[in-house]
Amino acid sequence: MKVLTLAGSNSANSINKQLAIYATSLIENAEADIIDINDYEMPIFSMEREAELGQPEQAKQFHQKIADADAIVISFAEYNGSYSAAFKNLFDWTSRIDPKVYQNKPMLLLATSPGPGGAASVLNTAVTSAPYFNGDVKASLSIPSFYDNFDVEQGKLSNAELNDKLQTAVALLTQ
Ligand SMILES: Cc1cc2nc3c(=O)[nH]c(=O)nc-3n(C[C@H](O)[C@H](O)[C@H](O)COP(=O)(O)O)c2cc1C
Repeated sequence: MKVLTLAGSNSANSINKQLAIYATSLIENAEADIIDINDYEMPIFSMEREAELGQPEQAKQFHQKIADADAIVISFAEYNGSYSAAFKNLFDWTSRIDPKVYQNKPMLLLATSPGPGGAASVLNTAVTSAPYFNGDVKASLSIPSFYDNFDVEQGKLSNAELNDKLQTAVALLTQ
């Protein structure tokens, strides 16, 4: 099972990337395709830039990454209650190639933040909007207070209860 794994963040030390990678490591027989959205950076979308640039190679490549995957794991960073500009820009450009960005792929959607809210707001946005983009969301989970619940050194959740929830979510993705 080829699993496209990414964070909705362009931070070099993204906690969401750490969470997405850990979640993917729990999937049996997964072949992880871990991507960094920094590699798909484009100018901020505008109609004028689209007229000038057409469909940028980065957007085509991202769309192809999704096409090539059997399943997708995304963990979203929350900025002011919503997506990071980096993720939203990539999504917007990709949606101009294909409005059904997620291409019917089974998805596990995650989110985390250092605070107690656990980026639940952006996760809710992502989950409720996914069907419009042909995203087949099998499970979702927000992890609050990342640094209290995740062992950064070991790269795994240290909170047993949250780890059980993640295992359940992963099982739903692969069923
Ligand atoms: C501009 C900005 C806005 C933020 N807004 C929120 C927010 O609304 N909710 C939240 O839980 N954390 C918020 N944070 C904190 C992020 O959750 C934190 O920076 C986290 O590390 C981002 O995820 P990442 O490490 O995967 O990039 C914000 C951070 C920044 C820089």
